[in-house]
Amino acid sequence: MTIFHMKEYDCWLQGGFKAALKAELLANIHAEDGTDAAILKQAAAELREGLVRRFGIRSEGGNGVGGVFLGTAGWLTRIYGLSFPPLKPEGFHIGVSEDRVVIAGADAAGTLYGVFRFLSLLALGEIKAGDAVADAPVAAIRALNHWDNIEGTIERGYAGGSLFFKDGEVRYDAERLRDYARLLASVGINVVSLNNVNVRTSSKLITEPFLPRIAAIAGIFRPYGVRLLLSVTFSSPEVLGGLGTSDPLDARAAAWWRERAALVYHHIPDLRGFLVKADSEGEGGPFQYGRTHADGANMLAAAVKPFGGECVWRCFVYDCTQDWRNTAFDRARAAYDHFKPLDGQFAENVILQIKHGPYDFQVREPVSPLFGAMAKTRHTMEFQITQEYTGQQIDLCFLPWMWQDVMAYDTGYGATVSGLLGAQPVSARQDAARHPAAIEGLAAVANTGLDGNWTGHTLAQANLYGYGRLCWNPALGAEEIAREWCVLTFGPGQTARTVADILMKSYPAYQKNNAPFGVCFMVEPRHHYGPSIEGYEYSRWGTYHRAGREAVGLDRTGNGTGYSAQYPAAIAAVFDDPRLCPEDLLLFFHRLRYDFRMRNGKTLLQNIYDTHFEGYDEAEALLAKWQTLEPALPPAVYCSVRERLERQLLNAREWRDQVNTYFYRHTLIPDERGRKIYE
Ligand code: GCU
Repeated sequence: MTIFHMKEYDCWLQGGFKAALKAELLANIHAEDGTDAAILKQAAAELREGLVRRFGIRSEGGNGVGGVFLGTAGWLTRIYGLSFPPLKPEGFHIGVSEDRVVIAGADAAGTLYGVFRFLSLLALGEIKAGDAVADAPVAAIRALNHWDNIEGTIERGYAGGSLFFKDGEVRYDAERLRDYARLLASVGINVVSLNNVNVRTSSKLITEPFLPRIAAIAGIFRPYGVRLLLSVTFSSPEVLGGLGTSDPLDARAAAWWRERAALVYHHIPDLRGFLVKADSEGEGGPFQYGRTHADGANMLAAAVKPFGGECVWRCFVYDCTQDWRNTAFDRARAAYDHFKPLDGQFAENVILQIKHGPYDFQVREPVSPLFGAMAKTRHTMEFQITQEYTGQQIDLCFLPWMWQDVMAYDTGYGATVSGLLGAQPVSARQDAARHPAAIEGLAAVANTGLDGNWTGHTLAQANLYGYGRLCWNPALGAEEIAREWCVLTFGPGQTARTVADILMKSYPAYQKNNAPFGVCFMVEPRHHYGPSIEGYEYSRWGTYHRAGREAVGLDRTGNGTGYSAQYPAAIAAVFDDPRLCPEDLLLFFHRLRYDFRMRNGKTLLQNIYDTHFEGYDEAEALLAKWQTLEPALPPAVYCSVRERLERQLLNAREWRDQVNTYFYRHTLIPDERGRKIYE
């Protein structure tokens, strides 16, 4: 095996590749340096730098008729008389002939994305003379949310400290942030929020001493086509303004926000807007004043509207002060119950951000019933790249595996999730062909931090890459994403194929280890890592499995909490019938006896045992497979991943033995294959 000297810091932008196109051709660059200069200049710089760093090709200025022609399609037509098929916003066209490469962007961002794609295709060995590629992002909003605290810590962060803050200040390494902006732009991310949605001490970021520093960060991201969002606390008029109220219908609160928005936009004129978590997990919100979420969001939207800003309002709203004795309560209902009745009441520059599932980024949840149902409100879908409930970047869990299932889910409103994403945004209401409940984009909680490899677990870089690629094209499957990422990170050849195989097996293994069949939340309540089967059972958070001697799970059908009725009738009918319900969601929708027969003819209990024995064996196989790569990898990379896979195996052992023992103790029914379960 040959070693590809990958550097963890470089992620999927590795050097050491051989270009299949002639160096003389690539070195001769004719680039636009137009009026939208920052992004176009960056596109040209990225092309030059990418060719040197990744392929060892140093470029000169453009001369003669051959070479690389880079710019917006309009410019290339004007100057060189080239013509192109119509390009979609932020899209590009790449055409290669024997003596010419043309990279034409629909606009400045499209030009930049065209450069990154060209470099990727070159590294993947997927572009040669005679090829033409046209592409454009499907999702208009491709956002990354950081949950960084101004103290420098990251809520649910597993990759070191904040890239943006330290010790109560905006503090960063500018070069590192540029490298970060490049990584994000290379997969098409165009919106980044910097601070935690639980705003706490970072509420002061929208005050004068901090704004110039935030503006400087915006300046680093800007040439990469990335605009910033700032998380703000709804209670700012009280917390920062000393107003005594933040009531959205009180003219004083609204005026405070208008003034504040003017100040913020004075410093950062292209800020995308404010991101708000309100009335949730202790954050203030309109409920405090007897107002609705529409009242709250619209007030903020009005404040940023004169500057072209948006108010991104999260739908992660539920009552976290439950009494576990109350079996009628069902937290999964919350987002739909709160927001569906408000559809149509939000201002045009409000965007609701809805978690993909009704709970909270569990290893397996159904898709939220709000998707498809919100026909009169702009909205995006929220994912979590940071592995809060999926192994915390100690365990390997390739999330695109789950995301592809979300994308393929048929909402029952005449479109799958990926179809709703492909539909045009509702903001351009003229187009009759558009699905009325189009999803305008994706947002995801970032998994990055100051660790040298950005993500703690080197292979967790694949989740960040995969998220960007999925925003670009929601129809890309997990396998394709894994293959691309592995070749771009580990070079072409067997190593990449082996790592791709490991990635693809990691999610099913993790799912088997975890809470069985969609029952969710069998974790330690504070840090959410590792099994704690009754960790949430008697808690105020409203998440229960109610395992007893004879049955487990929650009845969310019409006979139970009625949650399933939030879906269109045809979808609800599938979820309601335990023989039709997808089996990995069986215990999400049903309370079932342990002797319920699943589709493989075995009982539910036996399937719980089997999956947990298998989950351990599969974690063991992941480690064994990784060990075959020792001769092919730089020792530091090999060792850091091996160490994590070893910890994953210990974790899988706990899941297996705790879950199996728990259910054995409840049922006293042994494993039919006589495997070891503890008394
Ligand atoms: C989860 C997570 C919190 C976070 C919340 C959110 O509950 O544990 O840390 O604040 O999600 O999405 O706001």
